[in-house]
Parts: sequence; C-alpha cells; structure tokens
Amino acid sequence: MIFTRKTGLRGELTIPGDKSISHRSVMFGSLAQGMTEIHGFLKGADCLSTINCFRQMGIHIEESNGIIYVKGNGLHGLSTPERILDVGNSGTTTRLMSGILSGQKFTATLSGDESLNSRPMKRIITPLSMMGAEIESMNGDGCAPLKITGKPLKGIHYNSPVASAQVKSAVLLAGLYAEGITSVTEPALSRNHTELMLHSFGASVTTEGLTASITPPENLYSQKILVPGDISSAAFFIVAGLITPNSEIFIKNVGINPTRNGILKVCEAMGADISYVDSSGNTYNDITALSDLLIQSTAGEPVADILVKTSNLHGTVIEGGIIPTLIDELPVIALLACFADGTTIIKDAQELKVKESNRIDLMADNLKAMGAHVTATEDGMIIEGGHPLHGTSIFCKYDHRIAMTFAIAGINGDGETDILDSECVNVSYPAFFEDLERLSL
Ligand code: S3P
Repeated sequence: MIFTRKTGLRGELTIPGDKSISHRSVMFGSLAQGMTEIHGFLKGADCLSTINCFRQMGIHIEESNGIIYVKGNGLHGLSTPERILDVGNSGTTTRLMSGILSGQKFTATLSGDESLNSRPMKRIITPLSMMGAEIESMNGDGCAPLKITGKPLKGIHYNSPVASAQVKSAVLLAGLYAEGITSVTEPALSRNHTELMLHSFGASVTTEGLTASITPPENLYSQKILVPGDISSAAFFIVAGLITPNSEIFIKNVGINPTRNGILKVCEAMGADISYVDSSGNTYNDITALSDLLIQSTAGEPVADILVKTSNLHGTVIEGGIIPTLIDELPVIALLACFADGTTIIKDAQELKVKESNRIDLMADNLKAMGAHVTATEDGMIIEGGHPLHGTSIFCKYDHRIAMTFAIAGINGDGETDILDSECVNVSYPAFFEDLERLSL
C-alpha cells in the first residue's frame, strides 16, 4: 500500500477491542461454568487463533450480532485436541495457553508462524517446569513448537527475571490447577488484565506491590465482558493526530488501565495537546489523576475518550518502570520523537527485540531509510527529532505494529511510502487503513 502526505486528520473514531482482554475473555470463558458473553471482542487474526485453539479442545464458541458466546466447560472440561494447535502469530495465545495446558490430563502441541516459532519460550518453560509440567521445545531451541504434557502441579513462588504479562499470566494460569498458592514477582509491573479478570471470574487473586498470587479455585464462573478499545491500537491515531498538521481526533472508549497507559504520560511529558473525557462528560488533562479516580469507582477496566490535536512537541527520556506500560507503543512513540524538538532517549526496552520482530533494529533501520536521525542501542533508541521524513519502500517483516507506524510516517513524509507487507495489520487492527482514510482530509 502506498501512502502520501495528508493535509490533516479530523473526526471521531471508535477503536477495536483490546487484544489482551479479548484473548483472556475466550480463555477464561472456556474454563468457566456457564455462558460467557463478550461484547467488543477484537476479531483480529491473533484473537481468532485463540478461539480456534479452544474450539479444537471441545469448547463451543459462537458469534451472534457481533457478540461472542463462549460455552464454558469448567476448569477440567477441555478435551484432547486431535491436531497441532495453530497459534498463528500470537505470543499471548502461546504463552497463556501453555500455562493452562500444563495442568490438563492430556498432551497437546502448540505451533505458529515463522515469527512466533522463533520467539523465546524458555521464559515460560522454566517456571512451568518448576511447577511440575512437562514441556518440550520440539526443535530443542527453546522456541515453539512446544509439546506440553499436563501433570499434577504444585504452587511456586516465581521471581520472574522479566516484566512480562505473558510470563506472569502463564504461571498464574497454571496456578489454577496447582496444589497451594502460586505467586509471581516481577521486576516492574506489567499489564494486570489476568489478575483483574480472573478475580471477576471468581478466583482468589491478590496483588501486593510487584507480586500477584492465586489460590486455586473450585470453579470459575461465566461473565459478561465489555472489552474496552485497545490503547495499543489507539496509539497510532494518538500519534497521527499529534504530528499531522491541522488535526483533531476524538478517540472513543479507550482502555486507560494504569498498567497500559504509559504512552499518554509520555505524550503529556512531550507537551502534547491531549485531553480525556470520562463517561459523565468531565474533561481532564492529567491521565494519572483520571485513572486513579476511575480505579476507585470501577472494579474492572477504566475507560475514557481521548481528544488529540496537532501539537508542538519536545524530546523526553523514557526509561524504567514506565516501559512495560507502553511496550507495544514504543515503535509509534519512536516515530513521534522524530517530530519533536530535541532528543528522545528510550532505555530499558530490550524486550522490544523479542516481539513479533526485533523492533529496535527494524524501527531504527526503517526510520533511517526515511531520513530520520535514529541510533539503535542495546536497550532502546536515541532519536534526534526535527529531521523531515521522505517516502521509501518499507518491509515490516509482517509485524503489524511496524506497518501501522509506517503508514502514519508515510502520511507525514514527502513522496511515496510503499509498505510492502501491509496486510499484516489484520493481526490486531483489520480496519486500520479504512479508519485512517476516513479521518483524512
Ligand atoms: C501481552 C503482553 C505483552 C505485550 C503483548 C500482549 C499480553 O507481552 O507485548 O502484545 O496480552 O499479556 P510480554 O508479556 O511478552 O511483555
């Protein structure tokens, strides 16, 4: 797909459902008793992989009028899959399901596409094996395909070396089946959807500082879930609204959970003209104040509408505990930094190297090809803003977030930006290009 400069982006937008929450809705609904109803489910390729895997384990999942119905079969109601479970491009499907499969009474094999099968799985194999699971990396390289033989599990306390919600969730989900309490301490707080949602499904999950613990429940109980819009998808339009001249975008119903909203804090720190509207119509300019307020009044996931306008931005430093709260947004934040005055430094983000692609190298290479001044470092990037971008051919290694980032770069650069593998946006945001076109002046 080819992109050329736009003179502005204007209008309202409803972002598709949160990917992390959509996955978990299907997984926990499958393990619950009764019918779980999911409103706002993200029908991207990743979440469809999760649905297909659970269907292969005997779970009835139907869609009617845009609502997904999952007929749960209880904690011990999954059946032996007849074929290899195809996890596609989805790390969340692979790692969270590995935790669940560790506690079953059967053997199952998980395998995905080339990118997925090269991502590190030792990070879950290690703690799940400590709990008693038998997991074989079939090529012996610590990656998928993974052959998982469920075993009786024992609860552990795991000190995770990485701040990863997928690792934390894999261990807590195995903890559903373990004897005794299972807990995970992480070096910085990663997204907490598993903890919030398992709690609402009836499990006893507690969080204290950086430690989450689960006591194995008798049962999980079906829920009606309203999936908020995905802040990781909204991020492309937040950045587009800030850097494209003459823009004003109102993005509705976005999840602003504090373990996910780091991009908004960074935008504020860079001087962005950004504001938030709560469900009563009150307007706020400080995301921390708003999310703190909403957390006190809602048990689940806080949401808000976001208004972004073209802004003069300045560079910033992004490091430490905020990194897990914006990890998936760093590619588009790197683009944002190209349009800010001064230097932006991203540190402590070595996890970016093991996402759907090596996002440090791929971002730095592709931004440099468009004329940006970017240096890739061991754990992030240094970006000197203010150098105009020009179009070129961009190959995204089929990484959806890289493709969406460069579409936004393309509408803010001279000449033509040709994204060679643009179809990969289907992984998380199938209507991305239509939404971008609709807002374009
Ligand atoms: C996710 C966790 C994050 C994130 C991914 C979704 C989740 O991965 O990058 O897109 O749903 O738990 P890590 O846990 O590997 O950081």
